[in-house]
Amino acid sequence: VSRFLAACRGGAVDRPPVWIMRQAGRYLPEYRVARARAGSFLALCRTPPLAAEVTLQPVRRFGFDAAIVFSDILLPLAPLGVEFAFPDEGGPRLDRPLAQPEDWDRLRPPEHGGGTAFVAETIARAVRQLPPETALIGFCGAPWTLASYLVEGGTSRDHVAARAALAAHPREFHRLLDVLADAMAVYLLQQVAAGAHAVQVFDSWALALSADTYAEFVVPALERLLRALDGTGVPRIVYASGAHLLPLLAGLPCEAVSVDWRVPLDWAGRALPGKTVQGNLDPAVLLASPDTVRVATRAMLAAAPTRGYIANLGHGILPGTPLEAVSTFVETIRGAA
Ligand code: CP3
Repeated sequence: VSRFLAACRGGAVDRPPVWIMRQAGRYLPEYRVARARAGSFLALCRTPPLAAEVTLQPVRRFGFDAAIVFSDILLPLAPLGVEFAFPDEGGPRLDRPLAQPEDWDRLRPPEHGGGTAFVAETIARAVRQLPPETALIGFCGAPWTLASYLVEGGTSRDHVAARAALAAHPREFHRLLDVLADAMAVYLLQQVAAGAHAVQVFDSWALALSADTYAEFVVPALERLLRALDGTGVPRIVYASGAHLLPLLAGLPCEAVSVDWRVPLDWAGRALPGKTVQGNLDPAVLLASPDTVRVATRAMLAAAPTRGYIANLGHGILPGTPLEAVSTFVETIRGAA
């Protein structure tokens, strides 16, 4: 087994495995070339030979222990009837936000999935080209994070429109989260069938919700999504921002939890008994000098659990990150035998 999969299951490893959330992206010169060749970010995602190539780029350059399929959390919403664009600045934009329960009723999940075959093909191609010890991670957005995009129409700072919609229409919001959970379950199963060795569910905007709201609305939807993978034997990682949610995440049917940089790692280890912990260097630290990166990475490793730990950042890598900072991060972890 690969070092990454062993660590997902809490097994012994010679050193912590390492990969980086959003490791394929604009901080890599070879990514910018591929994106220009494809014409747009969406065309790049939807062209499997190019998407597979971009998936492999960071593994080739840095020798990461895992690759993550190149796509975006919004792409599997297109088959449900959601239209969006990725402008050069400011993140994804929906053509029409789905602000009201009437709008949510119009979401039409295809009965047996469909509309995302390009992701399966990207995975199959990437797995064929990866070194055998390197795992391929499939992923999707979590129901709450996707619901926020639908209601807000884009990336929101405080998620007020989504939180207000949840408060005003609790029954309908529950239903919206269930529809998204079921659609993402089909989508993840498709990725596993195509060869993904592990899956990660991104609840990037979890931090916007209270623990009570998360317990009542989000946890049941996440359970529904994760349970769908029960029979596959594939490790499930949940990324969620927000230390106040750790006790709730501890009860989820998943093998690993990825935590943000606000959470002390030793604390996360204790709050998540029996689970692997992933994270959690502040991505902004990689904008500092190599010496600073080395010191901060060592501090992260010192606080990490000895078993069941995957080194990563606490959120996605920032576009302006110097390549040297990434090498320093990875080499410091490799030195930690
Ligand atoms: O290596 C990888 O991880 C790449 C695959 C990947 C992308 N998006 C590509 C991408 C993954 C796993 C994602 C997940 C994603 N997308 C999340 C969850 C993770 C997180 O960071 O919280 C979220 C919230 C999104 C939504 C999204 N997509 C935003 C907010 C943005 C704009 C921010 C930015 O970096 O520009 C995107 C666009 C996006 N997704 C890019 C990439 C490489 C940049 C597109 C470009 O090339 O211009």
